[in-house]
Amino acid sequence: MKTKRISDKMEKALNAQMTREAVQAQVYLSYASWAEVNGLAGIAAFLYKHSNEERQHMFKFLKFINDRGGHALVQAIAAPPVDPKDLGDCLRKTLQHEIDNSRSIDEIVNLAHEEKDWAAFNFGQWFVKEQIEEETLINKLLDQYNLATDQKRQNENIYALDRDYAEATQEVVIPREEVI
Ligand SMILES: [Fe+2]
Ligand SMILES: [Fe+2]
Repeated sequence: MKTKRISDKMEKALNAQMTREAVQAQVYLSYASWAEVNGLAGIAAFLYKHSNEERQHMFKFLKFINDRGGHALVQAIAAPPVDPKDLGDCLRKTLQHEIDNSRSIDEIVNLAHEEKDWAAFNFGQWFVKEQIEEETLINKLLDQYNLATDQKRQNENIYALDRDYAEATQEVVIPREEVI
């Protein structure tokens, strides 16, 4: 693309976000590996998939920058943080990463609005929506975790019970109608 259709400031912000998405992918990959070696196969599968999603986000930024005549620069990324202490810590940290990332996306949308760059604004909206989904998803996992581990209410198995309730049958045969 020869014609540059984004400002230098926008190009810089989009590049920073591209790197941020790559960092997110790496963080979730490391959490997934931690979960797998600690016998948490379910959350490991979720985090492996989520890591791939973040990588796709990174690629979306790369393509948008280049398609708008900028230059996406692939940078070195920092090592992921230390392993979580336990499943709860893993979920809380994952949620915090997503909240921080949502704020970072908001800044890009703010800049697009300021510059009246409606193409970048439109592009950013996809991520605004994506972040709502991701925060909701992880909040749900955290709610389930809290329910399953709440010692005070002695309902550590409520979550499993509740899941079983979803599959509970709607039909019972009452004794008088039972055919022997
Ligand atoms: Fe992302
Ligand atoms: Fe995310």
